[in-house]
Amino acid sequence: MHVIKRFGWEIPAARITPEPVVLRRRAILAGSAAVGTVALGTFRSLPARAEEAPARNPAFDPGRAITEEKYATTYNNYYEYGESKNIWRAAQVLKQRPWTIEIGGMVSQPRTIAIDDLLKQVQLEERVYRHRCVEAWAMTVPWTGFQLSQLVKLADPLGSAKYVVFETAQDKTMTGLNAPFYPWPYIEGVTMDEAANELAFISTGMYGKPLPPQNGGPLRLTLPWKYGFKSAKAIAKVTFTDKRPTTFWEAIQPSEYGFWANVNPAVPHPRWSQAKERLLGDDEMVPTQLYNGYASFVSGLYTDRKGEKLFM
Ligand code: MTE
Repeated sequence: MHVIKRFGWEIPAARITPEPVVLRRRAILAGSAAVGTVALGTFRSLPARAEEAPARNPAFDPGRAITEEKYATTYNNYYEYGESKNIWRAAQVLKQRPWTIEIGGMVSQPRTIAIDDLLKQVQLEERVYRHRCVEAWAMTVPWTGFQLSQLVKLADPLGSAKYVVFETAQDKTMTGLNAPFYPWPYIEGVTMDEAANELAFISTGMYGKPLPPQNGGPLRLTLPWKYGFKSAKAIAKVTFTDKRPTTFWEAIQPSEYGFWANVNPAVPHPRWSQAKERLLGDDEMVPTQLYNGYASFVSGLYTDRKGEKLFM
């Protein structure tokens, strides 16, 4: 008998009570010990005052209203902290400093870099992107961060590398790691071409503040033309390889979650339609767009891949 495991993300929206509390505080912007009980650590690359935040790049106008911060930061998928959407409180214990990123595989020189050293070497900016989860909910978020291509350049991969693989942290505070069903660690990956695309972004902040742990702090992948499960949170390791990785959700259910995961309203998930999406906040249902509305940026990446399952 084929048993389908119901994932936390399949809980009907009506059963989820959005938490009214916004926990982060302005004090964290000072990047000081004033952080209090919220273990966000310091974030020297984000300035002390909101008016000094990295400039918003106008090239990526999302064409829809920004989701209220309280919804984007309290309705999350983060299986390391559990299967429910309501993990934001539990995730506060993730310590974001010190934090290092291991860079290896097919690179000229493998190395481990501390996040604050990395942040000194990249150009931060703000981009407002749409985010479309495979579960058919969506949000629009002002992310702070840097283009993924800058990280690739710093890593100096060999010409023979074909994929960039992201492995996310396995911290002792992550109680979800004890769930035997899941193939930890959380792995995601993109092709070198996708990594070079100008849309591909590493987020280190949102709403002008350091990225909270529940949204993937201290750094996460942000690929707005793909379903949200590609946005690996809390990246600890970046590996360049010539072999396509088996990604986390692909390992769990390959018939439902593939490597490419490009958004396409015309290709239903085997168990639900992808034609529309529910906007976090007012729950309005709006039509989903091909490549989540970013076709002009990315459709050229896939012209030679017609035989592949690009949209699941
Ligand atoms: N990254 C890790 N490490 N663990 C996860 O469970 N969930 C993914 C993605 N990144 C996940 C992850 C899924 S399914 C989605 S939709 C997005 O994170 C959700 O991001 P958000 O909580 O910031 O909305």
